[in-house]
Amino acid sequence: MKIRCPHCSKEYTIPDERLKALTGAVTIPCPSCRGGIDISPGQGRDPSAPAPRAAKGEERGSGLKERILGSLKDLPPMPQVAQKAREVMAKPTSSFSDLAKVIEADQAIVTRVLKIANSPYYGLSGKVSSVRHAAVVLGSKTLMEMLNLACSSEILGQTLAGYDLEAGDLWTHSLGVAAGSQILARRVKPELEQDAFSAGLIHDAGKIILDPYIQERKQAFRDFVNKSSETFLNAERHILGFDHAELASEACRIWQIPAHIAKAIRHHHDPAESQADPLSFIVHTADAVAMMSGIGAGLDGMLYALHPKAVSFLKLKPDDLSSLMGQIAEFVDKTTREI
Ligand SMILES: [Fe+2]
Ligand SMILES: [Fe+2]
Repeated sequence: MKIRCPHCSKEYTIPDERLKALTGAVTIPCPSCRGGIDISPGQGRDPSAPAPRAAKGEERGSGLKERILGSLKDLPPMPQVAQKAREVMAKPTSSFSDLAKVIEADQAIVTRVLKIANSPYYGLSGKVSSVRHAAVVLGSKTLMEMLNLACSSEILGQTLAGYDLEAGDLWTHSLGVAAGSQILARRVKPELEQDAFSAGLIHDAGKIILDPYIQERKQAFRDFVNKSSETFLNAERHILGFDHAELASEACRIWQIPAHIAKAIRHHHDPAESQADPLSFIVHTADAVAMMSGIGAGLDGMLYALHPKAVSFLKLKPDDLSSLMGQIAEFVDKTTREI
């Protein structure tokens, strides 16, 4: 369905699936001018329009998935420094200095870690001059968090033409979901705090892997989304036979990412399928809240459906979601100002 912002006249397409999830009229902020757009369930829907079929002859399903996963082996691995740092952190006898030593071995990463440490969010603007200094002042858990950010900023920062994401869009969204997941975990499962941050940061990494394959099928995706007003996630499932969440969780095995993080990535769009896995609900909720805050990809994100079980599963109150929105926005604003 097409809607027009009454304030700036910009036109947007909203997937019908999102409209079906509405139980009453809502007002959403226009991504362009931030003015309110009123939407009611059923508005402009054409139930007789058939969903278009995937283009014939296109490779899809498990064959395509195996080919994509096979090609990942040719890509440069995730920075080794992150893997080594994780091993150091896992040893109870490790010190600040052991962690700093691992990071200092990669100068490109050192530069990025220092930029993050000096960003306004960590409150040390311009004062941290070495990784060792950052480890002492901020503690090894925060240093690990900054290392994760430094290792992923380049890969998550790229343009994804298949998804119509400009350079930096996915990076900003991932930062928001990482921060939101960490805040939620601190509240409901404190022992998962660091894993929640990592899982939130890479939850949409499947989009990076899939982007060239979507570009190859751009017309089929455009036709599917336009003609049936379906979500892009459903277009992935329909045209490719799997979605970015499923693919990323399998890529995690190749990247040697722990299985419980892979599970949360697998279920970030359908946490109810995770057999009551707290990390899956945490990442899903942070993703939905980031999208509702406008830290996502256009209007599609504005109506991102928070799973009805998420609020009760995480024992959240309505106020918690609005305060989470504020905290996510603050983290993204302050960390991106200097990175
Ligand atoms: Fe996603
Ligand atoms: Fe996401």
